Amino acid sequence: MTRTVYVNGAYLPENEAKISIFDRGFLMADGVYEVTSVLDGKLIDFAGHAKRLERSLSELDMPQPKCLPNLLEIHKELVRLNDIEEGLIYLQITRGAPDDRDFVFPDPETTTPTVVLFTQNKPGLASNPAAQKGIKVISIEDQRWGRRDIKTVQLLYPSMGKMMAKAAGVDDAWMVEEGAVTEGTSNNAYIVKNNTIITRHLGNEILHGITRAAVLRFAKEAQMKVEERSFTIAEAQDADEAFITSASTFVMPVVEIDGTTIGAGTPGSVAARLREIYIEESRKVAV
Ligand code: PDD
Repeated sequence: MTRTVYVNGAYLPENEAKISIFDRGFLMADGVYEVTSVLDGKLIDFAGHAKRLERSLSELDMPQPKCLPNLLEIHKELVRLNDIEEGLIYLQITRGAPDDRDFVFPDPETTTPTVVLFTQNKPGLASNPAAQKGIKVISIEDQRWGRRDIKTVQLLYPSMGKMMAKAAGVDDAWMVEEGAVTEGTSNNAYIVKNNTIITRHLGNEILHGITRAAVLRFAKEAQMKVEERSFTIAEAQDADEAFITSASTFVMPVVEIDGTTIGAGTPGSVAARLREIYIEESRKVAV
């Protein structure tokens, strides 16, 4: 089925959507994005994603697109037009397409941001069988730039990380900097030891996950102990459980790190419980 996508104010069949070859997203990776999940035809954690998007734009001195106040409406319209019950919506905003290639940012009076949204239909997103089995990861060096708190479209190194994982016969990679785990290629990383949930503290070194914020809030509400601090791969391998969070995986157990089995080698009870709470509570307040 041909998707309907959104490009700069118009809803179009995907094969009719066009952007310029001079778009700075294409030439310079000068763009930001957000991924919002859809369950029961409704948006999960939309307010958090919208807020982080505004912060990403502002940190990069990128002008706010005119449609910014209508983003919720645009997301909902795409869900409706594409008949999405469970899936994902990608929102990409670049600094736009000036007349020619230049490193210098274009004048925002004459070059307006490019805004693209598209959907991915993912039936069974919430009941993903991988959550029953858990995923395996390897560790790799974190070679990304220093502002990982901004959700930019510079995804080459995370893509390379996924390829390294694939070549190693596992599902994903956790990135390590100065001996400590930063995050997964497209998710935040956690371990559980003696019923305490440990995940890296916020800073410029990781993306401030919207799912992370919600999961930590639910964990605290359920009287679980949370420590936001760095941890090593050795500590993770010795943990009782490990898991990741993101808009596309929710809470996903990790059962192996660099060939070492975590806990019993099956999803742990804390991760399973957090997954259930996150999906259930997010569904209740979805828009
Ligand atoms: N990735 N860290 C990184 C590097 C990410 O790319 C993501 C999200 C997260 C989790 O953030 P959130 O909980 O807000 O989704 C952490 C998205 C899903 C992606 O690129 O597909």
